[in-house]
Amino acid sequence: MTDKKLIAGNWKMNGSIEDAKSLIADIANGLHREPELLDKADFLVCPPFVHINIIRHALFTLDTVDFGAQDCSAHENGAYTGDISAAMLADAQCSYVILGHSERRHGLGETNQMIADKAACAHENNLTTIICVGETEAERDAGKEIDVVLEQLEGSIPSGVDAKNLVIAYEPVWAIGTGKTAMSKDVDVMHRFIRECLQNNIHNGLEDFENIRILYGGSVKPDNANVLLNIPNVDGALIGGASLKAQDFLGIARAV
Ligand code: PGA
Repeated sequence: MTDKKLIAGNWKMNGSIEDAKSLIADIANGLHREPELLDKADFLVCPPFVHINIIRHALFTLDTVDFGAQDCSAHENGAYTGDISAAMLADAQCSYVILGHSERRHGLGETNQMIADKAACAHENNLTTIICVGETEAERDAGKEIDVVLEQLEGSIPSGVDAKNLVIAYEPVWAIGTGKTAMSKDVDVMHRFIRECLQNNIHNGLEDFENIRILYGGSVKPDNANVLLNIPNVDGALIGGASLKAQDFLGIARAV
């Protein structure tokens, strides 16, 4: 297990250029004032595509926060109107890309195969992927959450992964943006299950399965972060709403 947590902000489709500038300045200044937070966690922000360059400039002289994107194309380049390639993200100095978020799986019909293809492109371009998995409320009610997550893991992780280029985010769909969080015992069971899958199921077992970070996501806030981040196999958090306020984002880091 990695000793440092990853605290990742998914800014989704929010804010203006000015908002992005002031949010990253507040986060970077906060980390400058509390450098001990950097011993406990690595930090990542994933702004909308058009704000990536702003963040890159803001972080030019700082290496306290990594940045990445919220999606990329499954194609190298060419006639794909509206898409952004992994090579473009790498060229813009992104180090991470979130893939298979439930808002894309369920909202836009992304399949496991599409996510695996995107991830393969991302890895070829030296990006670390955060591959999201998680069950809907109906699937949990039907007792199918383990089967669902297994299928997503098996279907959306391409070959050639290791702890340097792969992070998993377990995000129960019903917990995203709802203020509901999964119960500690359910998070414990699911994260342990994901670790076992990395050990045994994914491409016949990954050698450094122990070091692959498994994040929890879904209504993580400063007041529940301590409990969630202390569950075994929870190696960090993927944060939506609370990542849009520097104080909340840093508050979650303080809870590590
Ligand atoms: P939330 O979003 O923290 O607003 O629930 C999490 C996510 O979608 O990654």
